Amino acid sequence: MQIAIDGPAGAGKSSVAKEVARRLGLKCLDTGAMYRALTFKALNEGLDLSDNFLLGELTRHCQLEIKFDKNMNTLILLDGEDITEKIRSPEVNKHVSLIARSPDLRKELVYLQRKIAEKSNGIVMEGRDIGTNVLINADHKFFLDAGLEERTHRRWLEMQEKGLEVDPDSLLKEITARDRIDSERKEAPLKIAPEARVIDTTCYNLEEVVEKVIGFIKHTESRG
Ligand code: CDP
Repeated sequence: MQIAIDGPAGAGKSSVAKEVARRLGLKCLDTGAMYRALTFKALNEGLDLSDNFLLGELTRHCQLEIKFDKNMNTLILLDGEDITEKIRSPEVNKHVSLIARSPDLRKELVYLQRKIAEKSNGIVMEGRDIGTNVLINADHKFFLDAGLEERTHRRWLEMQEKGLEVDPDSLLKEITARDRIDSERKEAPLKIAPEARVIDTTCYNLEEVVEKVIGFIKHTESRG
């Protein structure tokens, strides 16, 4: 079974995807972590972030390893180093959407994502273009959304829990900018797949959204 979950930053995709995967006994892949890993590398190497060719070359020549822990987290190893924590830095947050515009870089990452899906015995994959591009034939497609203020608040809480102090206004600006770049890019932009079920999670907690997603899946499966 393949389940695609897309949506903007802070809509709850990662937490929902992990819990749905856990309950259904499937693997879970956070594709955003892969774009973040390449952003980390491009920033370290001081690359021009608008150079599609160089970003493609960088992706082809690095060693990106994806692993999964027992809590359904996606672990990222780049050239042998575990950079799972490092890819959540403010620097990476700020630049990741710029890099994710590169068609050559996306082509390489989408190839890896499809290979992971093929090798797994069922997967929940979350990102921006899963239902519209990566797993176009997914059995179930969801688009999670929430109001901008709510998404900013959730991200702020997450950062607080990690001990990171951020100004809510700058966070709101960053999320707005990222949403705009992700939706306006030419290559596989963030948009709702025609067959996707849209869930506005603004007024629901994690458990409620997970229940809805699993409910839709069971209902569809029972109809054959
Ligand atoms: O967790 P959050 O929503 O902040 O972002 P993420 O899922 O880690 O994704 C980070 C960025 O990677 C997004 O803002 C997109 O620019 C890019 N991305 C993408 O272009 N396509 C995907 N399938 C996943 C992420």
